[in-house]
Amino acid sequence: MPVWAGVLPMRLVPGEPEADGGPAPLPSYLSTMATALRLRAPRLEDEASALRAHAELAEVDFTFLLGWDGGPWSEYVDRCRARSRGVGVDPGMVASTFLLAELGGEVVGRASVRHELNETLRREGGHIGVGVRPVWRGRGVGTEILRQSLLVARSVGIERVLVTCDDDNVASAAMIERCGGILDSVVQSAAGPAPVRRYWID
Ligand SMILES: CC(C)(COP(=O)(O)OP(=O)(O)OC[C@H]1O[C@@H](n2cnc3c(N)ncnc32)[C@H](O)[C@@H]1OP(=O)(O)O)[C@@H](O)C(=O)NCCC(=O)NCCS
Repeated sequence: MPVWAGVLPMRLVPGEPEADGGPAPLPSYLSTMATALRLRAPRLEDEASALRAHAELAEVDFTFLLGWDGGPWSEYVDRCRARSRGVGVDPGMVASTFLLAELGGEVVGRASVRHELNETLRREGGHIGVGVRPVWRGRGVGTEILRQSLLVARSVGIERVLVTCDDDNVASAAMIERCGGILDSVVQSAAGPAPVRRYWID
């Protein structure tokens, strides 16, 4: 059974005593997370869990499945794979790799890695977007998704990675800084009222 199955999110506090009174041998969850969580392309069998995540994040105005149009899931899976090869990219968009984050057999989040920056992305979208299902937040999942996304970005030739977040998104700013982000600037967003923080990660 995968290491995280049945463990999170029920039991998270390092040092919680075991039934026999001894110290709980809980791992540093961040380092265990690094071996347990993996980013991968969406698959046919992800339909139910990915759509559930999409609905959950829609409630907080965040698009989980980028480019999802409600059509057949198999076509969406194909489109994601094509877009990461630069095929079928919509006008004004750039090639991007869309990945689901799987932990203990469950879809817990997602990442989108843009292969280059257009004007909008350079100003406020950045190279990488991360989303974590609400029930999985605050446990290092977002940080690990971003860490692995940086490897994906490197693999497509991006040397300096731009990652952005709303100025008032405390968790996202902390996640980006945890992954080495250096604040470059805070700009007014064209898309909404909140200013946007722009971080570079070398
Ligand atoms: C931003 C987001 C991805 C963070 O995911 P997460 O799994 O909660 O992140 P982590 O558990 O790795 O936490 C990252 C940091 O945020 C901090 N944090 C998490 N939740 C927090 C909260 N509610 N308030 C303040 N800080 C918080 C953590 O303590 C951690 O900081 P640390 O490393 O200094 O301890 C998640 O909140 C999310 O999906 N939000 C909606 C989508 C979004 O805003 N995406 C960001 C745009 S790229």
